[in-house]
Amino acid sequence: METIKGNKVVLVGNGAVGSSYAFSVLNQGICDEFVIIDLNEEKARGDVMDLNHGLLYAPSPMNIYAGTYADCHDAAIVVLCAGAAQKPGETRLDLVSKNMKIFKAIIDEIMASGFDGIFVVATNPVDILTYATWKFSGLPQERVIGSGTILDTARFRYLLSKEFDVAPSSVHANIIGEHGDSELAVWSGANIAGISLKKMLEDYPEKKGRMDDIYINVRDAAYDIIKAKGATYYGVAMGLMRITKAILGNQDVILTVSAKLDGQYGHEDVYIGVPAVINRNGIRQIIESPLSVAEQQQFNRSVETLKAIQAPFFN
Ligand code: 2OP
Repeated sequence: METIKGNKVVLVGNGAVGSSYAFSVLNQGICDEFVIIDLNEEKARGDVMDLNHGLLYAPSPMNIYAGTYADCHDAAIVVLCAGAAQKPGETRLDLVSKNMKIFKAIIDEIMASGFDGIFVVATNPVDILTYATWKFSGLPQERVIGSGTILDTARFRYLLSKEFDVAPSSVHANIIGEHGDSELAVWSGANIAGISLKKMLEDYPEKKGRMDDIYINVRDAAYDIIKAKGATYYGVAMGLMRITKAILGNQDVILTVSAKLDGQYGHEDVYIGVPAVINRNGIRQIIESPLSVAEQQQFNRSVETLKAIQAPFFN
């Protein structure tokens, strides 16, 4: 049974990530009502005008306007991109205190509107702030989703696709764990057309030495992009759009998102990047991919990292 009605999406936080997300939603025509909320009302007004001017060339009509928190009351999805972003040299976890305060205020306002849909959280540190959103909102855990490692998985598949000369969508490989420095690649399950990466590397031994570089490149991509241009936004915006599409289209697609564990992978009471089935009700199910012993240990360390950061706020 579908619990979430309608197609209205509200974006809270119209910075680089939020406005890129708005543009990707317009391009794909996946909702018919799109509201932008930002403290900077002028920026929201300008973006609304700019986006509306693209409507003629969009795949379907979309009612785009700048709004207030009251507009959340009948939204199917509220996407949270508000908060401070990483500066050069900062880790995602450095942002926690600043953004936690901002989130408390925002979520109180959204819930006061009577919102009863699905939250999609993008602000960093995303796993911690998704947990905070679940706590602050009181919504069922399946209706609070973080972008988690959706972007890291996209970066990983892109690099593997280049290495093996096939499309990223033909590479099956995931990054799980914290969206941050303790994330891990699930090498043991990686495959192309059912041929394990292990077997591929036996067939192409010259590629073996590059796998560690691929992981490091994925893990450190954000630092590199921030150094180069100050912020990352297009990649994560596409990931957010993909989650939105999965929800509104009731797709039952598996994406690596930040979901709350209830015993899966041996952990509970933490939001962390794992493969999960996404549909109109939010997170239908977390998938427990088999992990090697080393991968499970890395995952455990990632959980411990997140729990240590979140504990002072919630224990
Ligand atoms: C990214 O990974 C900074 O979390 C952002 O691009």
